[in-house]
Amino acid sequence: MNDTARTPGAGAGSHGAANPDVAALDDAAINATPQTQARLAAVMNVARYHGVEMDLESLRLRPDEPAPSPPVLIEWLREAGLWARGVPMNFRQLIKIDDPAPIILLLDDGGAAIVVGRNKEKQLLFLRDPRGGPSDPVIAVDELRLKQVWSGGALLVRASRAGGGDEVVFNIGLIAKLVWGDRRILRDIAISSITLTILSLVPILIVMRTIGTVLQFHSKDTLNLIIVLLIIAVIFEMILSWGRKMMEVILAAKLDARLNLLIFDRLLSLPIEYFERNQAGETTYKINQIREVRQFLTGKLMNTFIDLFMLSILLPVLFYINATLAWTVVIAAALMAAIITMFLRPLAHKTGEVIQAESQKGSVLVETVYGIKTVKALALEPTRSADWDRRVAETAQLQIEINRLANWPATLSMPLQRYCMYGALTLGAYIAVHSNNAIDASALTGFMLLGGRVAGPLVSLAGIIEDVQKAQTSIGVVGSVLNRPNEKYALTHGLRPRFEGEIEFDDVVFKYEGAKTPALDKLSFRIPAGTMLGLVGRSGSGKSTVTRLLQGINRDYSGAIKIDGNDMREINLRHLRKNFGMVLQDNFLFRGSIRDNIIAGRPGLSFEDAVRAARLAGAEEFIERMPNGYDTFIQEGSPNLSGGQKQRLAIARALISDPKILIMDEATSALDPESEALVNANITRIAKGRTMVIVSHRLSSLLDCDLIMVLDRGRMVDLGTHHELVERCAIYRHLWFQQNRHLAPEGLDDAEAPPALTQGR
Ligand SMILES: Nc1ncnc2c1ncn2[C@@H]1O[C@H](COP(=O)(O)OP(=O)(O)O)[C@@H](O)[C@H]1O
Ligand SMILES: [Mg+2]
Repeated sequence: MNDTARTPGAGAGSHGAANPDVAALDDAAINATPQTQARLAAVMNVARYHGVEMDLESLRLRPDEPAPSPPVLIEWLREAGLWARGVPMNFRQLIKIDDPAPIILLLDDGGAAIVVGRNKEKQLLFLRDPRGGPSDPVIAVDELRLKQVWSGGALLVRASRAGGGDEVVFNIGLIAKLVWGDRRILRDIAISSITLTILSLVPILIVMRTIGTVLQFHSKDTLNLIIVLLIIAVIFEMILSWGRKMMEVILAAKLDARLNLLIFDRLLSLPIEYFERNQAGETTYKINQIREVRQFLTGKLMNTFIDLFMLSILLPVLFYINATLAWTVVIAAALMAAIITMFLRPLAHKTGEVIQAESQKGSVLVETVYGIKTVKALALEPTRSADWDRRVAETAQLQIEINRLANWPATLSMPLQRYCMYGALTLGAYIAVHSNNAIDASALTGFMLLGGRVAGPLVSLAGIIEDVQKAQTSIGVVGSVLNRPNEKYALTHGLRPRFEGEIEFDDVVFKYEGAKTPALDKLSFRIPAGTMLGLVGRSGSGKSTVTRLLQGINRDYSGAIKIDGNDMREINLRHLRKNFGMVLQDNFLFRGSIRDNIIAGRPGLSFEDAVRAARLAGAEEFIERMPNGYDTFIQEGSPNLSGGQKQRLAIARALISDPKILIMDEATSALDPESEALVNANITRIAKGRTMVIVSHRLSSLLDCDLIMVLDRGRMVDLGTHHELVERCAIYRHLWFQQNRHLAPEGLDDAEAPPALTQGR
């Protein structure tokens, strides 16, 4: 189980056949040491026990580590939706566990073993070498033997929660959990805050106690002592508040980072459908509301706690000095809270309106920038400007309104606030004058100095209700984006079969959300692996929808789609998409070199792979003519490439992982005839060894297809070869002769065409 004598190559080779995990490691080109292989295979093995297939591409090995460390493995497991934790354990604990779930032991040499069973009477653990095949015998070890190779590192793995689609909801609880993760810093901040409060009290109390003496007896020594004490206190306060500020900053940065990671992860797992239905500007604005939440957490909320500490110390002192006066201050604060509460509802309502307006304003901006080419080409600047003006005016108006509204509680509570600061003092003086000296001078001085310090926290405490509500609104807004149904579960769970490329639709009915008629209506067909399938039909007949369903973009269809006999719904979505190549009419190329664009960040792929893919896609010829070849930089929107070149790059990008199924949706439709001919010339070469689904409205580019499917209004009208279809399918024949008039038999013209047909795209 811990055979380090094996060389990496021999180790992988000897087990490659027996153990699919090790074979997968080889496939992913992870040139691992036997130890690394053991650890990775152990994780894959245990994950499979919990019904999850691990994805090697989401594994982030650190190059500086000889074997993957527990954090790397844990992150990998969590990415796959499993619960994982590294714990120190000993032999006795391992023996005692009743749960049959396998446990990974991280061996001292960097390898791993899996605990698969135990014999409590004989005090034996049964281990399996993760690199071995399923038929390899388990190894029984006793405490002594285990101790030689293992000093206690174990990895516990569990299915995170039962059922599907389980997702933590993005709400205040989740954020509280994030904050709680930093409780150590919070505690330190609290301690320093309390100390600061006490420190700031000291000078006041000293002055309060001694000022009378100093003035009465002209005691210079006492005065000097006071001054020295005050200076020391101030210096100490300076140092401490610097420290506290730094802790706050660190906490804020940490929280920011965590929130941002969480948000982005969530955003990426939203289905494409979401992004199609919602404007980018609106989404970004809403997501950015998280900033408000974070500011509330590290600003207002923290200050509130600090204020509470301060009050818990100051208020008793105030009561000690004079209970009557202290009570009036507390009552004033309560009144202030009442006033603010009164305005909460209307303010929340307005806040909602402001957010709505701001997000719409954001949409206009993003949309204009995104579509600037069209804006310029069609001279749409004035309309866009007018739109923008209107949005700006609307938000400005709302801002005024909300601030006017917010001004009310501030103004109304001002007299109460002032009372706490000076009023109570005056009242004290009044009482002192009118009753027989119930309050002495030092008490009044104390009140004067402390009153203000109590009033501040009391006022902001009263205001916290409003801030809590604002933060809640923001969390709601962020949640409205992030708490939508997402693909996370499908992306991390399910089968990861090796694809051959057989596609079967069985009575598939699919309707887009809000649409009246189904986009696909009882579609049934089956094509064997390696088929080159053409899809034709007029615009809106459902061609793209077929390709979308195949990629799992839309998943709420009825009927079944099977790939090599496996139901699509049971296949891991990321695995599925990774094994599909996709070329669209307009492909997005990222900023970066040509080589980077072809490899597109897929790990384990080399420059040679990029060249091979480019050659197959017919892109090599123009890449080599580029000034820097494969290192030529592509700008955003790739203005330095022609349409045909872009398209060939996109094909190369789709081909690099040698997908078993390649979909081209109108991939050549926007190209000039020459570029189209260039791409089409390569199609048969590209199609070798894979299933192709080619959508095109130009029938001439489908001539090489093994089968052509004619779609109309979501239904399959016919499926056959070109020659068969020209013979028997009216729609196809019409399209064909319309595009190839010179071949048309005498007498066929548009008048004869089926009424609803036009050449679509
Ligand atoms: N994202 C979408 N949301 C709603 N309806 C859509 C969406 N995409 C396409 N449709 C509708 O579904 C039908 C089929 O569209 P599509 O498959 O794109 O047709 P084709 O690619 O053949 O032109 C059309 O009626 C179209 O209006
Ligand atoms: Mg289409």
